[in-house]
Amino acid sequence: MPLKHLRITNLRCLTEVEFSPHPNRTYFFGPNGAGKTSLLEAIYLLGRGRSFRTRYNRRLIQRGQDCFSVYGELQQNGVKRRLGVGLGPKGLNLRLDSETAPSMAALAKVMPVHVIEPNIHRLIEGSPGDRRRFLDWGVFHVEHNYLEAWRRYRRVLGQRNAALKSGQSVSAWDSGLISAGTDVDSARKYYVERLSDALCGIGESLLGTPLKVSYNSGWQEGKDFTKALEDSKKRDLNIGVTHVGPHRADLRVKLDSRNVREEISRGQQKLVAAGLILAQIRAFAVNQGSGGILLVDDPAAELDQSSLSSLLAVLDGLPAQQIITGLQRPILPTKLNYPVFHVEQGGAVKMVQ
Ligand SMILES: Nc1ncnc2c1ncn2[C@@H]1O[C@H](COP(=O)(O)OP(=O)(O)O)[C@@H](O)[C@H]1O
Ligand SMILES: [Mg+2]
Repeated sequence: MPLKHLRITNLRCLTEVEFSPHPNRTYFFGPNGAGKTSLLEAIYLLGRGRSFRTRYNRRLIQRGQDCFSVYGELQQNGVKRRLGVGLGPKGLNLRLDSETAPSMAALAKVMPVHVIEPNIHRLIEGSPGDRRRFLDWGVFHVEHNYLEAWRRYRRVLGQRNAALKSGQSVSAWDSGLISAGTDVDSARKYYVERLSDALCGIGESLLGTPLKVSYNSGWQEGKDFTKALEDSKKRDLNIGVTHVGPHRADLRVKLDSRNVREEISRGQQKLVAAGLILAQIRAFAVNQGSGGILLVDDPAAELDQSSLSSLLAVLDGLPAQQIITGLQRPILPTKLNYPVFHVEQGGAVKMVQ
């Protein structure tokens, strides 16, 4: 599903930028503040509906303008798909082919996009919610009915919590919660097994030691959800909130036997997080033939020389379209005819190779 063409209008310093990326890899280089990260944000927006730098899409609108738009063309199984995301005074406008898209999920399904950027260590250091989002997004792409089960679970959970808060009986909600929660749990467990297989060798390549993941369902191990919910009912009624379930799940990550949240450095956390993202791409590729699009923002600024070489070596064999930025013009072997674009101060983009 390579991205064939992109047009960005009025997004941060990018007034009007158009380019056609290579199906394998494309490089952008240029000075600080030129607009390289903004380019990646624009691509990310098409598949995720938001930026990876801010929660507020309005901040992406170019100062002095009242809207931005990003338009992309993709090739999906030989068919051209057209995606558009715009934000203006009337809010977010999502387009898929020639129609208004009902939700971001429709665009996301067509364009799985991943990013390795300076804040990815949050995936390791951050809250379980950060890791659940990573996981849910992966499951959403490989399991057709997952979004429906997940939405059903969130809805019943909200209803059960409201009943708990107002001191009402929750038995009306329990069977629905158990049914949706069990669907969410089994889909996530299945996915974490695929992710775990795909991680094979990545820890060794990036950090010299095996990297392992496992899934914590959100209740005590060895119990099923029905039993865990029953055992927690008294506490739930006392405090007015549901204490167990997929909304309390976590992805456990181990490097060797070390706890990656507390026992490794920030730089190593970045590599661990990159490893998880690369594994997710491999897992997608097994399922769908392609791992999607990977954006890599200025890896040289974040990693020491040896870690950078290890990362680039893994990227070489990765089944994903890659778009990589950096301060310096990359030195590529002559046999590789990947395009290189220079991003000039002010966001003008020129192909230099
Ligand atoms: N809303 C905005 N309107 C106009 N310019 C912006 C806006 N937000 C950020 N910028 C500017 O866009 C430039 C591009 O930043 P960035 O993409 O981070 O560059 P790079 O990644 O190349 O260092 C910065 O100079 C920044 O000041
Ligand atoms: Mg940048």
